Amino acid sequence: MIGLGYLGAVHAASMAKLGHDVVGVDVDASKVEALAAGKSPFFEPGLEDLLTEVGETGRLSVTTDMADVAGARVHFVCVGTPQSADGYAADLTYVDAAVSELAKHLGPDDLVVGKSTVPVGTAARLADVVAGAQPGAILAWNPEFLREGFAVKDTLHPDRIVYGVPDGERGERAAALLDEVYATPLSEGIPRIVTDYPTAELVKVAANSFLATKISFINAMAELCEVAGGDVTQLADAIGHDARIGRRFLNAGLGFGGGCLPKDIRAFMARAGELGAGDAVEFLADVDDINNRRRARMVDLATEVLGGSVEGARIAVLGAAFKPDSDDIRDSPALDVAARLGQLGARVTVTDPEAIENARRRQPQLHYEQDVEDALRDADAVLVLTEWRQFRELDPVRAGELVARRTVLDGRNALDREAWTAAGWTYRALGRR
Ligand code: UDX
Repeated sequence: MIGLGYLGAVHAASMAKLGHDVVGVDVDASKVEALAAGKSPFFEPGLEDLLTEVGETGRLSVTTDMADVAGARVHFVCVGTPQSADGYAADLTYVDAAVSELAKHLGPDDLVVGKSTVPVGTAARLADVVAGAQPGAILAWNPEFLREGFAVKDTLHPDRIVYGVPDGERGERAAALLDEVYATPLSEGIPRIVTDYPTAELVKVAANSFLATKISFINAMAELCEVAGGDVTQLADAIGHDARIGRRFLNAGLGFGGGCLPKDIRAFMARAGELGAGDAVEFLADVDDINNRRRARMVDLATEVLGGSVEGARIAVLGAAFKPDSDDIRDSPALDVAARLGQLGARVTVTDPEAIENARRRQPQLHYEQDVEDALRDADAVLVLTEWRQFRELDPVRAGELVARRTVLDGRNALDREAWTAAGWTYRALGRR
């Protein structure tokens, strides 16, 4: 397993759980050290228990030395493909480095399996690198669809398994070897789609683009509800009952963030443009714009409830992670809004059950409190920006005793509006009266 981030660490532990002998490699010694001690380098529910479980079997080892992969037959490439510093395209530096380093250690029957999210066309290019280094070795593309917060469950019980393989006998061999790797989930009847490289690469970005579009669609409806006096949560329930639409991923609010959806739709636009098909995914620019407008709208709403200016106001921000059950702050809508309010002169105190350390590193100028009651104390406005269970279940009566003014902005439509208004709070939300 090359790369031990959110994807690779979970995949490594999960493959060991399935009975395979796994060697995990990462250039980051601190990650390797943590995993060697059975500790997760990041917050992910269930991962530490899984590491303890597989630790006892001795089937998972971790190293910083790529040479230790020699002897493995299947090599998963799980390194990151972040957004480039100078544009929308994916930065393939880590994938290219991992594959060219790995190529030096490949055996003639080895299978290299790409899992990273890459621009379409990358697999074919990397297949040449692999074949150039070791003519017998084969490359397959096996996109990963795990969600943070559910990563262990999604890896062990995925919705589907997709292999992109070369044509002919080499493709059959690659698929047969992957069938051995995934024998347990496949035996549970999980659908398996065997296809070519470009389709496998596109499946991943198409899925993420669809999910992002679904979220921005409902957030666009929230904009309409705001001007027309409607309620987007009821609208989502009502359209979601149509099985062709479905209620999941129709939660209106601050919009999407994280290490995947935002950068994947941008990289997709960039790649489609390179291929001369930019028009086909031009709508993703709107998806991105709608998403960003929600953050601006939240800042405007805070300004409005604070009487036209946030300067000097004490604002309690509940949530820094891009979503609950994660300590990931990459492109976090919550932290972005907190930072914008800070720039406008508000005295922002952020609390989050798991993400404070990461948030402090990114936005050191904000104030942080681990305890939600400390964050609420003397606040002029409370903003719920990540829907952690701890925040959803806050007692509005107790919270009301701590703040200076009972004004709550529900950025995720996560609170019980009736309970909060009954406790004397002015309740405002995105897309609702
Ligand atoms: C996503 C995909 O779901 C996953 O399949 C892929 O492998 C990686 O990218 P993840 O980034 O972990 O997973 O988070 P996800 O649960 O998809 O949420 C993404 C963002 O959308 C979060 O910021 C979340 O708060 C937001 N969201 C989600 C909404 O605003 N509304 C919704 O209805 C759902």
